[in-house]
Amino acid sequence: MGVSKSLVFCVLVFQLLSLSSAAIRFNEIRNDNRPIIPFDEFGFTHRGRLELNVSKISLSNPDLDFSKVGFFLCTHDSWLHVLQQLEDGEITCVLQSDLIKQVFTFNNLNGKSEYSTIYSENDADQYTLVFANCLQQLKVSMDVRSAMYNLEGRSNNRDYLSAGKTILPRIYFLFSLIYFILAGLWIHVLYRKRLTVFRIHFFMLAVVVLKAVNLLCEAEDKSYIKRTGSAHGWDVLFYMFSFLKGITLFTLIVLIGTGWSFLKPYLQDKEKKVLMIVIPLQVVANIAQVVIDETGPYGQDWITWKQVFLLVDVVCCCAVLFPIVWSIKNLREAARTDGKAAVNLMKLTLFRQYYIVVICYIYFTRVVVYALETITSYKYLWTSVVAGELATLAFYVFTGYKFKPEAHNPYFVIDDEEEEAAAEALKLEEEFEL
Ligand SMILES: *[C@@H]1O[C@H](CO)[C@@H](O)[C@H](O)[C@H]1NC(C)=O
Repeated sequence: MGVSKSLVFCVLVFQLLSLSSAAIRFNEIRNDNRPIIPFDEFGFTHRGRLELNVSKISLSNPDLDFSKVGFFLCTHDSWLHVLQQLEDGEITCVLQSDLIKQVFTFNNLNGKSEYSTIYSENDADQYTLVFANCLQQLKVSMDVRSAMYNLEGRSNNRDYLSAGKTILPRIYFLFSLIYFILAGLWIHVLYRKRLTVFRIHFFMLAVVVLKAVNLLCEAEDKSYIKRTGSAHGWDVLFYMFSFLKGITLFTLIVLIGTGWSFLKPYLQDKEKKVLMIVIPLQVVANIAQVVIDETGPYGQDWITWKQVFLLVDVVCCCAVLFPIVWSIKNLREAARTDGKAAVNLMKLTLFRQYYIVVICYIYFTRVVVYALETITSYKYLWTSVVAGELATLAFYVFTGYKFKPEAHNPYFVIDDEEEEAAAEALKLEEEFEL
């Protein structure tokens, strides 16, 4: 049972991975009469190129005015104006607008069933490649291969990464180095405090190492795409490590939240249930992420998978907060009943800080990064990546620092005077609602 399930999962993942890849895309259009088919988006510099190869063209009706069928490039802004023109009746077909960049129309086919062209785009901007068919009675079948890239420097090397993403490989590499350094530091700390190390500290090490390796794969993946336009293997490694990193990170947040191995050596049933919800959901989230990345914003089902991803992500993020809330509640009750008010109050403060930091981390990496991505110009898309990675780094550093192995084990040892002061503080504390 278990084996067959994991087999199905592997097959599913690898099928997804064999979908079209990165900057060069293949699309098969069959008997389609959609008036507008968007293909892909790309940020061009002043030396942008679009290489378009259309083959196996077959048209349901060969005697029509094919100047109303063809490919064009369009920016978001001009698209809105084009729609306005259509509404005002200035034009009857998108391809007649002077705001679009016509790449080629089917009246140039002259009966052939394939067409190739290299189009130079010298106005830097973000464009979408679109196919328009203004003839309602016409159904089109064709294979479309599109490659968009910018030429670099004097050597005319091709750069298949969109203008705002071209420095991403370097950014990912830099962050990967930082995490490897952090992992080294952590090993040093574990060694020096080896007498007071808990199992969870080794788990934290694994999470940091996985994060570092994941970033390294992402850097290599992106730099391979930059050079060749396709991902070729690195993406598989990258997705594998993303998957492992995602699962271990969420598990770690839950484990720390429950106080496992700090406060108690076991997990309660309800805490196990949280893990049993979060881990499978992470699997789904990772599959959704693969589909989203590989199909591009105009792929079929893209929206569906995007929604699946968002939903699952929100559920996971909420689920990981429960164990922290339970721990805080338990600690408050314990502080009231047994005499060790100070000890428990310190733990309480720690867990409350952790709760707030987890919420900030989730909020920042989900909402703020998304907002940045939406409002920044295409040229500065990398800034949202940097912001997200910095927030993640801060979260890792905070978690490591606050939950590091302590020199004198009994985790929160305090003397009697402090104990009394803390008991006072606890009374105030009780008025403070979470
Ligand atoms: C696509 O078309 C361009 C321009 O004609 C040509 O140089 C290139 O070799 C074609 N690529 C494929 C895969 O057919």
